[in-house]
Amino acid sequence: QNPIVITIDGPTASGKGTVAHRVAKHLGFQYLDSGALYRLTALLAIWRQVDLEDESAVAALARSLPCRFQHGHVLLDGQDVTDAVRAEAIGVAASRIAVLPAVRQALTDLQVSFRQPPGLVADGRDMGTVIFPDANLKIFLTASAEARAQRRYKQLIEKGIPANMEDLVKDLTERDARDSARATAPLKPAPDAQILDTSEMTADQAVQQVLEWYANAQ
Ligand code: C5P
Repeated sequence: QNPIVITIDGPTASGKGTVAHRVAKHLGFQYLDSGALYRLTALLAIWRQVDLEDESAVAALARSLPCRFQHGHVLLDGQDVTDAVRAEAIGVAASRIAVLPAVRQALTDLQVSFRQPPGLVADGRDMGTVIFPDANLKIFLTASAEARAQRRYKQLIEKGIPANMEDLVKDLTERDARDSARATAPLKPAPDAQILDTSEMTADQAVQQVLEWYANAQ
C-alpha cells in the first residue's frame, strides 16, 4: 500500500501553494512544491548560461539538480535561493522549460520520491494527472485572473520584491496559456478531481473544504 497522496493542481497564483502547505501541516504530511523544482532547474540553466530551449542540456541539469530543502529554505549549489527562485522572471523561465518532455521526465523520480509515510500533499500542474494518478484525493484549485494577480502582487510586495499589476496580469495570462496549451502534461483537471474556485474564499475556507473532502474520502 502506497502512502496517501493529496494532489492540488491549478493555475499560477491560484493559492494552491498556501492551501497545500497548510493542509500538509494540519495532517502532519510531507509537502511537495513541484513548481519549485521547475523554478530551480530554470535558475540553474540561467546561472550556467544554458539555452532554455536546449532540451537535452536542460534535462541533464534537471536530472541531477543540486538542491536541498531545509527549514523552509531552498539551497541550489549551496546558495540560499529561497527568494531568488520566487521572482516572476524565474516563474516565466520555469514555464518555458516545463514544455520540454525530457525535462518533465527528468524531474519525475524526484517528485515521486516525496511520497513518504504518513502521507504527502503535492501541488503543481500535473500532480493528479501524471505524477500521482492514483492519488487518494485530487483537487483542482482555480480563481479568477484578477483575484490571482492581486494575490501574487500582495505576496511579492510583502516579500519586498518589486511588482506591477499590469505586468503581473500579462505574465499570469502568458504562463497559463503556455501551461494549458503544451502537448506534455498540460494544465487541466484530472477527470476525478474536485474543482475548488477560491476567487471569493479565504485561504482558511479553502483549507477547511479540502480537509472536509479528505475526511469524506477516508
Ligand atoms: O507553481 P509555480 O508557479 O511555482 O510553477 C512555475 C512553473 O513551473 C509553472 O508556470 C509551470 O509551467 C511549471 N510547472 C509545471 N508542472 C508542475 C509545476 C510547475 O509545468 N507540476
